[in-house]
Amino acid sequence: MPQLGSIGLRNYLDQLQIQANLKMGKPPTGLPVDPVAFCKEILHFKPTVYQEQFLKDTNGFIALRWSRQSGKSHVVAARLLWQSALNNGVHIGIVAPSYRQSKMVLRKVAFMATFLPKELILSIERTRVSLTNGSTIEAFPNNPLTIRGPTLHTVYCDEMGFIRDDFDLYDSILFTLGTTDGSFIASSTPGSRDSLFHKICFAPEYSDFSRQHVTWKDAVEPSGPLKKNLLEKIRKQLETNPWRWTREMEANFAEDEDSFFPLALVTSCVDGESEYTSMDAKLSDRILYLGVDFGKHRDHSVVAAIDYDNETQKAKLIHMHRFYLETEYASVIGYVKALCSRWQKVRKVYTDVTGVGDFITEDMRNSGITQVEGIALTIQSKTDILGNLKQMMQTGKLSMPYDSELVAEINSERYQLLKTGQMQFSHPDDSHDDRLWALALACYGVRMAAPAPAYHPVVLTGYIVKPKISIANLGLEKKTWLRDPLYNQTSRLCMACGSRRPVDVVVCPKCGAHS
Ligand SMILES: Nc1ncnc2c1ncn2[C@@H]1O[C@H](COP(=O)(O)OP(=O)(O)OP(=O)(O)O)[C@@H](O)[C@H]1O
Ligand SMILES: [Mg+2]
Repeated sequence: MPQLGSIGLRNYLDQLQIQANLKMGKPPTGLPVDPVAFCKEILHFKPTVYQEQFLKDTNGFIALRWSRQSGKSHVVAARLLWQSALNNGVHIGIVAPSYRQSKMVLRKVAFMATFLPKELILSIERTRVSLTNGSTIEAFPNNPLTIRGPTLHTVYCDEMGFIRDDFDLYDSILFTLGTTDGSFIASSTPGSRDSLFHKICFAPEYSDFSRQHVTWKDAVEPSGPLKKNLLEKIRKQLETNPWRWTREMEANFAEDEDSFFPLALVTSCVDGESEYTSMDAKLSDRILYLGVDFGKHRDHSVVAAIDYDNETQKAKLIHMHRFYLETEYASVIGYVKALCSRWQKVRKVYTDVTGVGDFITEDMRNSGITQVEGIALTIQSKTDILGNLKQMMQTGKLSMPYDSELVAEINSERYQLLKTGQMQFSHPDDSHDDRLWALALACYGVRMAAPAPAYHPVVLTGYIVKPKISIANLGLEKKTWLRDPLYNQTSRLCMACGSRRPVDVVVCPKCGAHS
C-alpha cells in the first residue's frame, strides 16, 4: 500500500470498497427498478400525476416549466437518487443560479438517501453524496469552467430561468455530457423571455427537449403538494402584480413592460458564487457603503451593505437585513451601529430622511454614526437614485447573490414618465420595495463618494449644468411592437366579414375586403 496521510488513506479505502462493489457488477437487490415504485416504497412519498409523467419520461433532455411549490426540486432529487442507486458508477451534477441553491437541492438528495439500504451509502457530505456502487451526486457552483472538468452522466439545472450566463453554462454542460451521451434536466418557473430556458421551452432548435408544463391548478392539493392556504397567501401577495402571478403560478412567460428593471437585467447581476455575509464576519480592508430604508408598520426596515472595490470600481451586495414589522427604530440604529463598529471601514451610511426618517437619521448621528448622510426622496432624487442603480447594473458594476425574492422585488418596481419628463416610481400594492431602496441608497453612496465627473459651469448664462443620468441611457425605450396586435400572430380577422385568414394574405378570400 502506498504511503498516505489520513485523508489519502480514507480515499484509498473508499476506492477499494467501490472497486469491490463494482466487481459485484449489479445494483443492490430489493430496490424497485420502476422509479415511481422507488419513490413510493423506498422514499415513502406518492408522486403526483405530473411527477409520475416526469419520472417515466425516458427522453435524454427534459424541461420542466412548473409553477412554484409544485414539487420540482423534490421529484428531480428523487429521480437522481433512483438513477444513481440503480446504476453503478453514475456521476450526476447539480447546478443552479447559486452554489447555495445547488447545495440545497443536494440536501434534499442527502435526506432521501437516508432511506436507502445502509450498505449502499458510502458518504454524505455537504456538496456530495457517494454510494458504494461508485455513483455520486454532486452540487456544483454556477461556473462554466467548474462544470467542464468532470465527466458527468446527468446534469440537473434547478431554476434555470435565473441563471446568469446561461448559454455559456449550457455549452459546458453539453461538453461534459458529450463523452457519456448523458442526459440533462432543466426545471424552473419562467424568468425573462431573453433567456435560454425560454428558448428551450419554445424554440424549434430545442425541440429535442421533452417539455412539461404544470400550473398551480395541477399542483394544488389534493392532486399536488401546493397547500391551499399557501396558495391563498401567494394570491393575495401577487394580486396587484399579474405578471409575477403569470410567471410563478401559471408558469407562463410574462413581463411588465413598465418595469424599470427588466428581469434579464436583474438576472445578469446575479453572481452565483457569492453569498450574503453575516454580521459576525470579520471584514478588514474592505470599503463598505450602507443603505437604510426605514419602515415599521406596513413596510420593513432594511439595511443593505455594498462592498466596493476601488481598483475594479465594482460593487458587490454583501449583506441584506430585513427587520420584522413593528421593530423599534432604536433596534435598527443599534444594528447599524454594530455593523459600523464590527466592519471597520464603513465609509457612508445613506438613509431616507423623508417623514420619520429625518428624526431617526438625527438619532443615528447622535449615537455616534458619523458616516450617516440623509437624503430626501423626491421625484427628482428618486430618479437619480434608481437611475444610478440601473446604470451600475447595466454597466456590470454591481453584482449580488442569488436571492429570488430580491430579484422579484427589484423587477416589480414600475415607472411612468410624467409630462414634465420626470419619472414617477411605484410598486404593486401589498408588495414591498424596501430591500430595493436600501440597496439603491447604498449604491448611491458609492456614486456620491466616487470622484465627481467633470462638468463645466456655463459662465456666460450663469447656469450650472449638473450631470444627470440621461433617460436615453437607461434603456427605457418602449417596445411598441410588442403592443402591436399583429406581433407574433399567425392569423388575422377580416374586419368586414369576420373570417380568419393568414396574417400575410392581404385581401380577404371570402369577401374581398382589404381590412
Ligand atoms: N409528491 C409529493 N408528495 C408530498 N409532498 C411533496 C411531493 N412533492 C413535493 N412535495 C413537498 O412539497 C414542497 C415543495 O416541493 P419543492 O420544494 O420540490 O417544490 P418546488 O417546485 O421546487 O418549489 P420552489 O418553486 O419553491 O422551488 C416540499 O415540502 C416537498 O417536500
Ligand atoms: Mg425548487
